[in-house]
Amino acid sequence: MVDKIFDVTAKLAMSRREILQRTLLLGGAAAASALPMAHAQAADETLVLYSGEHRETTEQLVAAFTKASGVKVTVRNGSSSELASQLAEEGANSPADLFWSEQSPNIAALADKGLLAPVDADTLNAVYPSFKAADGTWVAGSARYRAVLYNKKMISDADLPVHILDYADAKWKDKIAFCVKDGFMEQVTALMILEGKDKALAWLKALKDNGRQYPGNGALVKAVEAGEMAFGLTNNYYWDTMAKEQGADTLNTALHLVAKGDSGALVNVTAAGVLKSTKKMELAQKFLAYLVSEEGQSAVVASIAEYPVRPGVTSPFKLLSLSDYGQSKVTPGDIGAATEAFALSREAGLV
Ligand SMILES: [Fe+2]
Repeated sequence: MVDKIFDVTAKLAMSRREILQRTLLLGGAAAASALPMAHAQAADETLVLYSGEHRETTEQLVAAFTKASGVKVTVRNGSSSELASQLAEEGANSPADLFWSEQSPNIAALADKGLLAPVDADTLNAVYPSFKAADGTWVAGSARYRAVLYNKKMISDADLPVHILDYADAKWKDKIAFCVKDGFMEQVTALMILEGKDKALAWLKALKDNGRQYPGNGALVKAVEAGEMAFGLTNNYYWDTMAKEQGADTLNTALHLVAKGDSGALVNVTAAGVLKSTKKMELAQKFLAYLVSEEGQSAVVASIAEYPVRPGVTSPFKLLSLSDYGQSKVTPGDIGAATEAFALSREAGLV
């Protein structure tokens, strides 16, 4: 018992120290926001987060949150689709308080099943207007855009198609790589909305006939860099991260942008939400509030070339302005669970 009391007292002392440090470093506003966190720590609570977002990004956000609040987070990493299936199976008995999905459709599918609680209004209001679910059940944790990665030794930027629909053409047989995860279903949804279901299905079938499917975007990027394939459909951050680490000039690859406003110029997001079944609603909401805070977003974009979801945070990576390029009429909030995109992909034999 004495040990327990000492333990709690020591933790409280530490949290006061941390608050003082934050006061000195960040000013009064940050200290005020840290206060409710300190109370949570006194209750010795731990959150459980299922995360399909990249492991390093998740670790950095969680470490920053724990440092700021004293609240521990137990993370279960996995693929977003597998974690979403697990959450659907566990239902109200899930040990998870939160889910951070690498793709918004996986979490939107849980919202459709009624498993998510509404995200606090202040959290939703902190991010750019289209970076949240239309029904307020999830909020974006980071953003990226679809692009075409190409091998400069095999093809020139000028020879690549302007519109995403033209990439599945027989002209590019055995040259185009794709992966049906991480932004792909969002892209198919945008195609369906902007071009119609028939064109989207024809595109998927042609992609199956003419392209090569990779199990993940990491493998796709390596294949194009190695010259196995001339180009591939992917998200920007794989190449932008690699370019910062290795130097853009040393790489065989570069990013090509399709036409502005084209359905291929799509912005897609990672997305986080709170499970309705959580017994720690207030604390789970605080985690989401931290995720979209300036401090949380700085931690998220520190190691991966994804975009912050709110104003006032700068990525350390050299990224083009999203307002210059990502102007598809379809926004992350429009994508939903991408159910029809999955169905069409199945019909085309891709999944
Ligand atoms: Fe990814």
